[in-house]
Amino acid sequence: MEDQTAELSLRPRYLNEYIGQNQVKENLKIYIEAAKMRKEALDHVLLYGPPGLGKTTLANIIANELGVNLRTTSGPAIERPGDLAALLTNLQEGDVLFIDEIHRLHRTVEEVMYPAMEDFALDIMIGKGPSARSVRLDLPPFTLIGATTRAGLLSAPLRDRFGVISRLEFYTKDELAYIVSRSADIMEMEIVGDAAEEIALRSRGTPRIANRLLKRVRDFAQVVGDGIIHSELATEALKRLQIDPLGLDEIDHKMLKAMIHSFRGGPVGLDTIAATIGEESQTIEDVYEPYLLQIGLLQRTPRGRTVTPAAYAHLGIPMPTDPR
Ligand code: ADE
Repeated sequence: MEDQTAELSLRPRYLNEYIGQNQVKENLKIYIEAAKMRKEALDHVLLYGPPGLGKTTLANIIANELGVNLRTTSGPAIERPGDLAALLTNLQEGDVLFIDEIHRLHRTVEEVMYPAMEDFALDIMIGKGPSARSVRLDLPPFTLIGATTRAGLLSAPLRDRFGVISRLEFYTKDELAYIVSRSADIMEMEIVGDAAEEIALRSRGTPRIANRLLKRVRDFAQVVGDGIIHSELATEALKRLQIDPLGLDEIDHKMLKAMIHSFRGGPVGLDTIAATIGEESQTIEDVYEPYLLQIGLLQRTPRGRTVTPAAYAHLGIPMPTDPR
């Protein structure tokens, strides 16, 4: 329970507390300011990028900066057009509706969304058969914030209705170290030396992971240490968590090794990799692969994924010498 409260309060509430994503942040600042000046609802915003980079946090911040209410839901949770109608008709002027996993909206719901986004209107069918007719209901102007791991999963008509489309990037080591220090401060933990950098290095560019690792390191500091997070303690704790110096976990290792040992490093199709290691293709594509691509251990080719020489080096496996 306490942990969950801490989790919430680790999240920045305003743009000036939000670290990283500078381009996105600077642009949003202007759009928010302009909308407030004109006393209009902010244009609809699509946030996309790998999980854990702060899409939900940003949606909360945008609502806070605008001084409006935020309603949060997710694509699959809106089962019928009526569910969406209920959400939309409960909004006040200028409110933000945040839909996570917006690429998973049901087709029938998505169609109701188009006029809602474009004209702030709901077209509702009344009755069935020949006597059925459509009535148009006016909605208060609102801002839809959609979040997705990959913009490519969105249908073109939906994507086209967002006025602002922002891609979140992996964070740098320095940004993550700053976030770790900030979180330690909020948790009233002393963190010294290079401990924040140690944690940052193994957080695969992702604040959610950085904060999770920080909490586990805190456990070690409090139970087996002196309550202070030193570099040595952080390193030891991270080793026990089986996270390697690049932040890769067991599943990353399993995936790269399967590609090397069973497919000579590739190219090999995503579904084949997934089946070999018993993970969902979608999880590999959204969660594991983006970081491995980013740090150059994996490459995507038209014929599938290949392991790079850097991955062999990182795993300490000799490259095959015979030509393919
Ligand atoms: N906590 C999690 N993500 C953060 C961010 N981007 N800035 C500050 N604190 C954070």
